[in-house]
Amino acid sequence: MSTSIRTGADRTLELLALQVGRPLSEVETPVAVVDLDLLEANLQDLQTYVDGHGIALWPHTKTHKSPEIGLRQLELGAGGLTVAKTGEAEVFQEAGASRILVHYPPFGTDKWERLARIAAEGVELTVAVDSLAPAAGLAAALARHGARATLLVELDVGLHRTGQTTAAAALALAQSLSQLPAVDVVGISCYPGHLQGDPAAIRRNVVAVDELLRETRDAFSASGIRCDRISGGSTPSRYLTHETCVNELRSGTYAFLDRVVSGDELEKCALRVVVTVVSDAVPGQIVVDAGSKTLTSDDHPDGGHGAIVGWPGANLHTINEEHGYVDVSSLAERPAIGDQLQIIPNHACGCVNLHDGLLAVRDGVVDHVIAVSARGLVR
Ligand SMILES: Cc1ncc(COP(=O)(O)O)c(C=O)c1O
Repeated sequence: MSTSIRTGADRTLELLALQVGRPLSEVETPVAVVDLDLLEANLQDLQTYVDGHGIALWPHTKTHKSPEIGLRQLELGAGGLTVAKTGEAEVFQEAGASRILVHYPPFGTDKWERLARIAAEGVELTVAVDSLAPAAGLAAALARHGARATLLVELDVGLHRTGQTTAAAALALAQSLSQLPAVDVVGISCYPGHLQGDPAAIRRNVVAVDELLRETRDAFSASGIRCDRISGGSTPSRYLTHETCVNELRSGTYAFLDRVVSGDELEKCALRVVVTVVSDAVPGQIVVDAGSKTLTSDDHPDGGHGAIVGWPGANLHTINEEHGYVDVSSLAERPAIGDQLQIIPNHACGCVNLHDGLLAVRDGVVDHVIAVSARGLVR
């Protein structure tokens, strides 16, 4: 059955376009907004840091999924862009990115074919792998297209998600990968996603991560395998990168920041969800027009579903799909029905992936719509 009904994305982008030029206080809610000055400061701060230490920045685009922001990161000096999924790589290729790192094990003939096509069309493609099979499939597709790609061998440094767990196993994999056609092993990578929370604990753990990276790098070198690129990092550990052997940093969340990673610096969070109070019928409570379909249900170690800007005592303790329950019982003054509130989401990346467009705001006025062109591209 064919249908001509427009998609939700089409409708959302039309509605968002109508908001351009309005003061933030008059936008239709719920809506995700980006403060352009805060975003630019976050992008520049990290670029300045890496430039000062001779580290290449390869921002993970999963946070913003937006060509506009990815291209700005490249303009500021990023060495390339990181993606997880092939569909994201296609979006950033179409936007004009010339160096893309796919940091996710690609499996399946469709994916190998699509990635090989990206490389054949001129993108300098790098793929991080932790086993032979995905690389072998990709190598065969690349060879068919007359294209090449570079590979990073992924190490598990503590998250226990993907990655070889020892230097010896990483070396053995690198040696097998070196036999494949159309690919070159050029280094190692890791994702220290287990480093969260207490800054002192993060610093201690970064040392352990670095030990495994150095051991693996030395094992590669001793066996004549290239290890020019050592890719790593996350937002919580980003400013410790120069104390390690990592020479490519893949932070993503740093662009927006969020309630989980910003620590005491909530005011630096560039992404907010603007909501409206729609009910105060239950004593001690208000309800806002955003729930898990707008904010995500990603949690926070301290509980709650986001920080309400300017109302430290208001606790967004529960969300349903379209309702946010805020306990305001401890507040002398309370938001009233119709009041607009700004919520800093727990997890920027999950939140952005729920929105086809973000309202870009400067000096309190909607400047334009940032298209989240890679939204939902999980294939
Ligand atoms: C493989 C990989 N690299 C880099 C990042 C970026 O880390 P962060 O979100 O802390 O900036 C992620 C985040 O999930 C990731 O999965």
